[in-house]
Amino acid sequence: MAEPKENLLMEKIVSLCKRRGFIYQSSEIYGGINGFWDYGPLGAELKRNVKELWWHSMTRHRDDVVGLEATIIMAPQIWKASGHVDTFADLMRECPLTKKRVRADQVEAQSGIAYQFSGAKDGRIVNELFNRLMAEDDQNPVKLVVGEVLARVNDREQALTTAAALLEGNKDSTGRPWAQEVLKQLAAMPRSQESFSFLLLPGKPPESARNAAREFYAQAGIPEPILLGEDAEIIENSSDFHPESHVRLSASRPFNLMFKSHAGPIESEENVVYLRPETAQAIFAQFKNVLETSRQKVPFGIAQVGKAFRNEVTPRNFTFRSREFEQMELEYFIKPDEAIAAIFGGVTTVPESGHPGVPRPDWGWQAWHQYWVEERVAFYEGIGLARDTLGFHIQTPAELAHYARACTDILFKFPFSKPDGQGHVAGDELEGIAARSDFDLSQHARCSGKPMGVFDDELRTAWGQLPKEKQDELWRRYYENRKKYLTTTGVADEAATSQATADANGLAKGQYIPHVIEPSAGVDRLMLALIASAYSETTSTDEKGKSDTRVVLKFHPRVAPIKVGVFPLLKNKPELVTKAQTVRDLLRSWMNVYYDEAGSIGKRYARQDEAGTPFCVTIDFDTLGEKPELLDTVTLRHRDDGRQERLAIGELLEWLRSKLR
Ligand code: GAP
Repeated sequence: MAEPKENLLMEKIVSLCKRRGFIYQSSEIYGGINGFWDYGPLGAELKRNVKELWWHSMTRHRDDVVGLEATIIMAPQIWKASGHVDTFADLMRECPLTKKRVRADQVEAQSGIAYQFSGAKDGRIVNELFNRLMAEDDQNPVKLVVGEVLARVNDREQALTTAAALLEGNKDSTGRPWAQEVLKQLAAMPRSQESFSFLLLPGKPPESARNAAREFYAQAGIPEPILLGEDAEIIENSSDFHPESHVRLSASRPFNLMFKSHAGPIESEENVVYLRPETAQAIFAQFKNVLETSRQKVPFGIAQVGKAFRNEVTPRNFTFRSREFEQMELEYFIKPDEAIAAIFGGVTTVPESGHPGVPRPDWGWQAWHQYWVEERVAFYEGIGLARDTLGFHIQTPAELAHYARACTDILFKFPFSKPDGQGHVAGDELEGIAARSDFDLSQHARCSGKPMGVFDDELRTAWGQLPKEKQDELWRRYYENRKKYLTTTGVADEAATSQATADANGLAKGQYIPHVIEPSAGVDRLMLALIASAYSETTSTDEKGKSDTRVVLKFHPRVAPIKVGVFPLLKNKPELVTKAQTVRDLLRSWMNVYYDEAGSIGKRYARQDEAGTPFCVTIDFDTLGEKPELLDTVTLRHRDDGRQERLAIGELLEWLRSKLR
């Protein structure tokens, strides 16, 4: 089994995805649109399976999580409260010539000679004046003076300026009116003092730097630019130049990633709306409604799957970083640690690795966070991503958002994932599991004026039984956390003190704002991970030495787009065809079946291998009773090892369903 090289593998995956109808470029007939992808017939099935498996494992298989399906466009105040309007930005740099932007942290280093220009002036006036003068009689005194100066300075503008200055100073000169006019026109000549710099790569002519500079100044309103102050400098490994245009980039500026539009017919500021950049905020905004209508009690979760949109500066790595994508997010609401300590006398923590087991009511945020990290890893393993293809990144305090207590990213070793300095490939982010404190609900409570807290009778009773010392300790801890939240979000000290006091007094009466653990996964990244992990090639050589390479997508049966291929051995035998169609109809209410009667059985197997179909069933003459003991049995072929076995049609459905559960 030969495994292709990394970047080659990515090329092969992209090509297979197109060829077999997993993923196409969006709007391809018009040349495509960067950062947008469409899922073809097999991709659509795979995607549906991924989302349904997530949904089942998160909601239907649990008593403590319920679902939500909210709109993509929501009140813009939601994005103000969440911080997205003010801070959801990437630092980017722009090429002043092409206006193309790149993320400031993703500019590749380049070397060459940097040609710098201090500015430019418009050559039209100089050329016009000069041409007019050249059309004069050769004895014209002005023409004679200009000609003499030009012979010395070899610069038309300088020659005109010097001659005009000479003639203007000479009161008796007949050229005086001309000189005054020239000096006036030259003084009004458009100029730019903006500098421009171009990195000339080895082997390129300096004229290409000058041409780029002329184009730049022409765009800046100098139609026939004469370049000024040219200078050249050797540059090594600089990330200051645009990777395509080679022009020096602007300083970095934040660039908000939300797509903006307007709701209603008037394009005014009041009507601005945003396409949601994450599904999570709808969950917070609907928290109270769900709590009141679902009969859930903290701890419990709300799950949502849906589209999200980010105007990524540099979409890349196929679907990994897209501008339109889908997320699967859970907001799992828990009691603050102070409430747990009041009720249970302390907070139980768990080891920072390994699954902590069945949830306990005395878990604090750290145990819940660990629990969700491990639940998510188990989910990935259960759909075919081996543990050794996954990695973790535990965000450092410097990386964490100011309100977050922890965030663990689950990584997958994508074909494009880069090794670190020691050659170790950790992978790229598949999902982030964040402990977000009570920030989100607190923000929505503050910005909407609607209470987001819950009342907990158990806490109220327990609080009344606590010794005064313990009450004071927990009161202070809660007060300090609330005060920290309020002051870091800009509430003035006095107001923050009074609000935090009210919040801590509320805790003593059984009220608190729930904290949240957020496992947030990307559907498109997961699909890419599943395809990359399933991709495998087999090369066989026949007796004549001719080799043949076949692609097999070794999807776990749970995610495979087609679960079973059903084939009659021969398409021109009606009894085989009818029987095969009966088998197809028996299975298709339960799973995605592909019926195929075209070509040899070997070719049909190969087609299904490439689509990732785990099982194929062939109806042959034995099925019809040629060997009586095999009547109503089929050949079942396993994709991964080519193994074949005989199975009764009556057992087939249950056998297949057992592999898909
Ligand atoms: N609510 C938290 C949140 O949105 P995030 O880390 O920005 O957190 C969560 O996104 C997940 O969404 C990521 O782990 C990734 O799988 C997916 N995702 C984010 N941006 C994406 C993009 N531009 N293209 C594809 N998937 C993306």
